[in-house]
Amino acid sequence: MVGAPASKLEISKQLRDEMNTETLRVEGKRLRESLEWMAQFGSTPGGGVSRLALSDEDREARNIFIQWLKGIELEVTVDAMGNIFGRRAGREKNLPAVMSGSHIDSQPNGGRFDGILGVMGMLEVLRTLHANKIETRRSLYIVNWTNEEGSRFSPAMVGSGVWAGILDQQWAYSRADLKGKKLEDELERIGFRGSTPCRKGPVHAYFELHIEQGPVLERVQKTIGSPEGIVGILWADAHVQGKANQVGPTPMEGRKDALCAAAEMILKVNELPAKMGGNLVATVGEIQNSPNSRNIIPERVRFTLDLRSWNDELVHKAWEELKSDFQKVSKRRGCPVRMEEIWRVDHAPFSPELVQMVRDASRGLGLEPHPMVSGAGHDASYMNQIAPTAMIFVPSIGGRSHAEVENTSWEDCEIGANVLLQCILKKANE
Ligand code: GLV
Ligand code: MN
Ligand code: MN
Repeated sequence: MVGAPASKLEISKQLRDEMNTETLRVEGKRLRESLEWMAQFGSTPGGGVSRLALSDEDREARNIFIQWLKGIELEVTVDAMGNIFGRRAGREKNLPAVMSGSHIDSQPNGGRFDGILGVMGMLEVLRTLHANKIETRRSLYIVNWTNEEGSRFSPAMVGSGVWAGILDQQWAYSRADLKGKKLEDELERIGFRGSTPCRKGPVHAYFELHIEQGPVLERVQKTIGSPEGIVGILWADAHVQGKANQVGPTPMEGRKDALCAAAEMILKVNELPAKMGGNLVATVGEIQNSPNSRNIIPERVRFTLDLRSWNDELVHKAWEELKSDFQKVSKRRGCPVRMEEIWRVDHAPFSPELVQMVRDASRGLGLEPHPMVSGAGHDASYMNQIAPTAMIFVPSIGGRSHAEVENTSWEDCEIGANVLLQCILKKANE
């Protein structure tokens, strides 16, 4: 039995709320409308979005999001990292709350579903509870985490990382984009450096609804993916130093071409997973060449490194291997290289109880869930370090994500939100 009801009327409402919950469903049309509305902020000609963290587009989407939270009478707070929380009070205000959300920021030329589905999905859950006047025993929180993508300010997941007490706030503030703009100043500029301290509170359970971002669900023809956890990730930057010179009069022998050295290094990264085996993936996704002129021998190159595996040791070994490989290339080509590890997060095995809950909720909707592992990083990774956590995946059409063509059917978005609704209700009434 729950709570300490004050009257018979309240008892019957509690029972009714709890009995009604299994047949309760979100409104797919309303979820679609909120996703389409959000897709306007930073929309790109190719049908995607560019809504980089703390950009003007991010600010506009955040402002609408807050209006929507207030529209269903949530108590809104913004913390010192710009994380936005909406609280729906439960009957027992002192119990640890149930939380769900994701991120509003996107990749450059990214898609209309990555992150925003988890935020709009939880909003739809809360709107459904609001419309049906359903109370829960525990309070509920919806959250938008700042800078999940890490493509403007590296690393990724800094909002949740600082909130969970794992990343240092001052360090996060000092992270700069390629134009030298600091995260702290950009938070201030868009008006989202909030007054609430960025510090974790007690969380009974954290759920995150997300698109799969890969081809598996489509391949196995399943609607719900239930990840057992998230892979470990290591991010690093490599800085290669060459010697600029006129390309015409300078003979090929003896050149110190930073871009050629970088090119060899990048191929080493690409070839490493096949050499190491296991389930490692390794990517160079960003590069700056300076001065970047057709007729100057490249003087400086910076490029990024992203290593991932469910096996943390494999990631660390890969990093050591690359450091030694890069030194060899550097020596041979006379181009000193500096390698800087900027972030690592170990693999995150989710709460078996919550994973089971996601699977049961999926079966409750008549859908057999597909067990898998998330190769993408999510705020759920840091949340998993401080609270029982699980995720719900829905299919990515063509397995495409971090691209303008990213797509998920409206029906699958709705089903994902219904799984989320059931999980939230279960945990919130414990
Ligand atoms: C986040 O989107 C990541 O997986 O890099
Ligand atoms: Mn995401
Ligand atoms: Mn992403």
